[in-house]
Amino acid sequence: MTSGPTWTGARGAETSQSGPGEASGTPLGGRQARPATIASAGLVSYTSGPDRGTRDDGVVHPRSDSGFTRSRLGRLLVSTNLDGSATSYDVAPLRLSVVGTGYLGATHAVCMAELGFDVVGVDVDADKVARLAAGVVPFFEPGLEELLRKNLEAGRLTFSTSFADAADADVHFVCVGTPQLPGGHAADMRYVDAAVSNLIAVGLKAGSVVVGKSTVPAGTAARLAEWLARDAPQTHLAWNPEFLREGFAVDDTLRPDRLVFGFADDITPDSPAVVAMEAVYGPLLAAGVPVVRTDFATAELVKVAANAFLATKISFINAMAEVCEATGGDVLGLARALSYDPRIGGRFLAPGLGFGGGCLPKDIRAFQARADELGVGAALGFLADVDAVNLRRRDRVVTLVTELLGGDVTGKKVAILGAAFKPNSDDIRDSPALAVAERLRRAGATVTVYDPAALANARRAYPELNYTDEGATGAARGAHVVAHLTEWMEFRELDPAVLRPVVATPLLIDGRNALDARLWREAGWTYHALGRPRA
Ligand SMILES: NC(=O)c1ccc[n+]([C@@H]2O[C@H](COP(=O)([O-])OP(=O)(O)OC[C@H]3O[C@@H](n4cnc5c(N)ncnc54)[C@H](O)[C@@H]3O)[C@@H](O)[C@H]2O)c1
Repeated sequence: MTSGPTWTGARGAETSQSGPGEASGTPLGGRQARPATIASAGLVSYTSGPDRGTRDDGVVHPRSDSGFTRSRLGRLLVSTNLDGSATSYDVAPLRLSVVGTGYLGATHAVCMAELGFDVVGVDVDADKVARLAAGVVPFFEPGLEELLRKNLEAGRLTFSTSFADAADADVHFVCVGTPQLPGGHAADMRYVDAAVSNLIAVGLKAGSVVVGKSTVPAGTAARLAEWLARDAPQTHLAWNPEFLREGFAVDDTLRPDRLVFGFADDITPDSPAVVAMEAVYGPLLAAGVPVVRTDFATAELVKVAANAFLATKISFINAMAEVCEATGGDVLGLARALSYDPRIGGRFLAPGLGFGGGCLPKDIRAFQARADELGVGAALGFLADVDAVNLRRRDRVVTLVTELLGGDVTGKKVAILGAAFKPNSDDIRDSPALAVAERLRRAGATVTVYDPAALANARRAYPELNYTDEGATGAARGAHVVAHLTEWMEFRELDPAVLRPVVATPLLIDGRNALDARLWREAGWTYHALGRPRA
């Protein structure tokens, strides 16, 4: 028999973990029914439960790419649990809206449709909406386009620029951007506020639930809850921070490490916000994804705390790289030795040019800014150092290139391998590689950039740089120094012997400590890496 996840309220010992085969709801195939009904909230019933491989149609369907396989019965899904057993779900015919269809929202919309829900993605960017509606993902994300097309064809997924098309949805996910405020460190909340304002304006259904997924300063959910209570009292709010990684976004959405549900303090297990979250994420919960059910502030903080921790770990090893540069130590050896300590671990301990992108840099700054506002700025004072260490790595590469070129880069040709802030993405927001490229250009160098996926974005953002579509070889032609700044597999697999004849000087800076120094040296290159003065 199925036991549902423990519910202990919004505060206190809120954490419950659904293990494999545990789900809130009803096992199918005649087992005991315990439906989580949200009819009272204007939603519909959802049932789920463990099923060791048999269902109404008696067929265990092969695992699809997403891990969820639709049966002939339409909405019935089978997923393979962590223990190898199968679980079937009757996905409630909920209609979801996803507001903001960028990296987070487009992925979320597609994956929710993949789970069987009817989904409308709404964005103010008409071009993005048109592309998504035509089955084209407007950014680089492995595996997403295939699922987009599949769900468009199945008729479960539409995109629109009109909030009116979201009005009849049962659950609205707010996935708009929260960039750094121009001229400040705090998060710019105008997009979240505009999204909520637009949702309120179209007249949301009674019992519908607004779910915040954007990364926001603590206190935002409480503020929005008050706003909704005043201007859309028929609605409810939940907070559900997102942890997906670009490059792994589909897998991270369908098989996340954990789910976090933030609710108002006066919530009860049958509150529409609770029931909606359990319904939407039922297939994932039943597959064993751990869930933390908590209050709004904790849910908001989990996200920024996670990013603060990850940024700190990266900057820690990069601070060690600085010390290695002064002492003659080798930060790679240091990191490897640290990584064997299970209390430390090796993830996010790769020394190099540091972090960038649309999340970590702005999230640690906004976290600090919010802590300052709350009078606890001292608690997060270390994040200023984390940020400073990170930015100093960019200075270090610029200095190294300048030194290698005899103290003046004027008129010298520099090849930059990589423009995206990390591999497997075309995201160039706060890209360390492009920041270095632009500084060298401003100092007088002729800089040519190549990236496997981010060239179009880079060209738009940094039109003065030179770009090539001819791969690393195109960038390196005639170069006096080659700087490897985003560790795409394509660059790791470069043959240094093939690249050697095209450059003017065989000088390589491995800004990501990802290339094989021995191979490059054997091919006649002078190899330099960050944090490894004698490498
Ligand atoms: N990108 C990630 O890997 C990631 C991961 C976890 C969390 N997040 C968070 O998710 C949020 C979105 O990030 P993103 O990377 O998807 O940003 P993004 O810039 O790619 O997408 C934001 C989208 O929101 C749209 N938008 C802006 N205002 C709108 C409005 N009023 N109505 C409808 N659409 C509107 C924009 O046109 C854009 O398409 C941020 O808070 C970010 O911190 C991002």
